[in-house]
Amino acid sequence: MMMRCSLHAATTSSGHPEQGAGRPFRRASGLTALISSVWLAATLLAQAPPAPGDPLPGLTALEFELFRIGLEDFLEVEDAEEGLGPAYNGTSCGGCHNVPAVGGISPVAALRAGMVDANGNYSDFDPDAGSLFQLFSIPTHGCQVVIPAEANVIARRVPIPLFGAGLVDAITDETLLALADPLDLDRDGVSGRAAVIEDVATGELRVGRFGWKSQQATLIAFGADAYLNEMGITSDLFPNEQSFGISPELMRLCDPIPDPEDIKERATGRRGIDNFEAFMQLLAPIGRGPIDDRVRAGELMFDALGCAACHVPSLETGPSTNPLFDRRAVPLYSDLLLHAVGTGDGIGQAAAAPNEIRTPALWGLRFRRPLLHDGRAATVTDAIRAHGAEADLARQGFDELDPASRAALLAFLASL
Ligand code: HEC
Ligand code: HEC
Repeated sequence: MMMRCSLHAATTSSGHPEQGAGRPFRRASGLTALISSVWLAATLLAQAPPAPGDPLPGLTALEFELFRIGLEDFLEVEDAEEGLGPAYNGTSCGGCHNVPAVGGISPVAALRAGMVDANGNYSDFDPDAGSLFQLFSIPTHGCQVVIPAEANVIARRVPIPLFGAGLVDAITDETLLALADPLDLDRDGVSGRAAVIEDVATGELRVGRFGWKSQQATLIAFGADAYLNEMGITSDLFPNEQSFGISPELMRLCDPIPDPEDIKERATGRRGIDNFEAFMQLLAPIGRGPIDDRVRAGELMFDALGCAACHVPSLETGPSTNPLFDRRAVPLYSDLLLHAVGTGDGIGQAAAAPNEIRTPALWGLRFRRPLLHDGRAATVTDAIRAHGAEADLARQGFDELDPASRAALLAFLASL
């Protein structure tokens, strides 16, 4: 078996790490010229609004290079010799995040399972392994994850697009805490909860905002979590291979590669998870489609119905020394808070109760199907009709709209 000093100095098809697709910091001079010209072209193109998959407009040449390396790692297909598995859901980040461009979604659904006792209390089978049950295992499948017969909750979750994720990362905890109204003191029937969690990267209490359950607060933590749980690749943030029902001894037999598997590349000092973070941080949000009078009327309707109480049209990033993230508007149509809207997946996770789901951002909605956390809704109308509980009044309002107003609302949503 090939042992590697760094996961991401991985041999490419050429088989020579040295020639691995563009390890830029090793061969500075010629490459620097190339980077500058590519960056210059990108900068000129940046006059036009970014297309899906483009970086944020206005990157420095260095940021552009970090974005490019991040993209490369995001697309890199791993195999067992590189640490994949033993249990996994996909072989690259890009495999599940690619519609309508790299960074987006795919129709894949991850599988979760757990147990609810007679008093209605949820628990994971194994608190360390959590509720995710990986779909695949590396040959010879001695570490295939099996859903126990005692499981009485099964849930599926579809991917979340990453366009604009760096702006979401840069929203302060205070902003989200200020939006929360857990006791519904304003009596509008809507009571969002901030998901206060311990951030694995820093050990600090932070407000989660990534994942259907707001289970992670930062992109670095989510990327490391995904690297372990979706791909079976350990890092210093998540150093232990773990899957339900598989003992550490068996795990070592299935995957003898020493943990953490994702270590710093010698030349750059960067881990795979640092590269993923950079790519996601610098990925531009999806811009709006055409806006006409009907779309504008639809947005007023969205507000009047109370949709905007949770799908908050715009938040702002905190102060930053990087102008890309310094007090920027983030037109995401979400409060990033946890709500019970009657669709909860029955899985308790991090700070989220089984019946709670984080308000999904609606930017880029026109490129996203299927809808809702489990992909059960084929159309936007189906997704709205599924809203109940905290969103019951808004849903009723939608049901009662006259045809012209409903068409305007749907035109607005189709412009996102
Ligand atoms: C098997 C498919 C699959 C693979 C592979 C995968 N993801 Fe995901 N991704 C998902 C799903 C499903 C979700 C929603 C998870 C949830 O909330 O339970 C998600 C959510 C995310 C989010 C949260 C975005 C947000 O705004 O809330 C981030 C960040 C993310 N993935 C990054 C990555 C990175 C980085 C990798 C590679 C290390 C990766 N993903 C690999 C399926 C995948
Ligand atoms: C109380 C908060 C709340 C209100 C009010 C609310 N929503 Fe939602 N919305 C959510 C949550 C939470 C979800 C995710 C539910 C799930 O996936 O199970 C969601 C999901 C959606 C989705 C699917 C998005 C996706 O990516 O899958 C659409 C579309 C949507 N809402 C539109 C609306 C519209 C239109 C209104 C007003 C009629 C509205 N919402 C009112 C919280 C709310």
